[in-house]
Amino acid sequence: VEETLVLVKPDGVARNLTGEILRRIEAKGYSLVDIRMIEPDRALLAQHYAEHEGKPFYEPLVEFMLSGPVVALRVAGNRVIEGFRSLAGTTDPTTAAPGTIRGDFGRDWGLAVQQNLVHGSDSPESASRELGLWFAS
Ligand code: GTP
Ligand code: MG
Repeated sequence: VEETLVLVKPDGVARNLTGEILRRIEAKGYSLVDIRMIEPDRALLAQHYAEHEGKPFYEPLVEFMLSGPVVALRVAGNRVIEGFRSLAGTTDPTTAAPGTIRGDFGRDWGLAVQQNLVHGSDSPESASRELGLWFAS
């Protein structure tokens, strides 16, 4: 069965939305396989966000992800990679559809990075790579 990496980003943890996000994942019918609260270091984030290195939002993104603990979830289900991204909504929380996590709880705070509450792997290759990073040993 397919697995994906979901992260509740520091804004989601700080706003006490971890339970609500987990509730939506479970209510959809996906299974929680593993869960960890992690304070990532720069090395982990550099690997996780390697595809964005050099983009204008990269440094603010890394600083944001260093700003507090993150909850990492290993979630399983048929087509869960695509399914969770649909639950999360589009990247920009201003225009993410109501009914999605980002649409219901996110907004533009006028900061250099979109604080959009969650991360979800975007392909089977990303999922396997990212699960290996966040759930190593
Ligand atoms: P993730 O699930 O977190 O990977 O989000 P995503 O796949 O919807 O977005 P993407 O991988 O393209 O970007 C990673 C993160 O960088 C986003 O979730 C945002 O926090 C931030 N980000 C991406 N694009 C922009 C942008 O154009 N401007 C700003 N300010 N932040 C961005
Ligand atoms: Mg992404």
